[in-house]
Amino acid sequence: MLAIDHGYFQGPTTGLERVDVTILPLLPYADTLMLTRGILRTIIPPTFGKGIVLRASGGPSILSDLSNEQIAIDIDEAIRLNVAAMAVQVFIGGKMETQSVHNMTRLVDMGNRYGIPTLGVTAVGKDMARDVKYMRLACRIIAELGVTYVKTYYVPEGFDTVAASCPVPIVIAGGKKLPELEALTMAFNAIQEGAAGVDMGRNIFQSDSPIAMIQAVRKVVHEKEKPKAAYDFFLTEKNRAKKG
Ligand code: R5P
Repeated sequence: MLAIDHGYFQGPTTGLERVDVTILPLLPYADTLMLTRGILRTIIPPTFGKGIVLRASGGPSILSDLSNEQIAIDIDEAIRLNVAAMAVQVFIGGKMETQSVHNMTRLVDMGNRYGIPTLGVTAVGKDMARDVKYMRLACRIIAELGVTYVKTYYVPEGFDTVAASCPVPIVIAGGKKLPELEALTMAFNAIQEGAAGVDMGRNIFQSDSPIAMIQAVRKVVHEKEKPKAAYDFFLTEKNRAKKG
């Protein structure tokens, strides 16, 4: 899954200033696209026939308390947009924890009424821990309360226990931009340790060769390619693109 929904609280973040220029060339390589309805309606061509995971919560910007989100869409709109799933941030341990959990359970109810899955996102505030204990807690609570699948962050120590104790599939967010080999290694390890897939944004669209990177990530997720081999593929594709 290619994540490009960051603008819903970050505005035109690096790499997403011109979605029409930077993201459209990546679409042929994405299995699913995670985004807001604003970008879907204005930029993504209707010929894009793969799954849309719609950002369904929002409210605060990076300038205020991020946990103070509300549901940001009607179910009728999600149906009109023919989405494959709706995504909601859940701030376990955050200031507005209960409100965000309530957003999630309402979306689950709305989605289930019409057969639309919900993706619960473990949202980590600036000052919150991202350790294995926290991820286990957050993923399990989110799954117990009804989502179809969970998005979380990879933790190097004990991620297998996060996946094993979560009764629904888990995908990992890429997080902040890493050197390509490190990002591919993280994706590889996550899949080895029980993740069903990745929902990666910045490590793809902030790469100096996003088309090469998204293809390398595909190789890791779909073909279980080892990180070094996927990185070699990335370099080859990057150089090929440069030569033009
Ligand atoms: C946060 O802005 C969104 O939920 C992103 O979709 C998520 O964090 C994945 O993007 P990235 O790989 O850049 O972390």
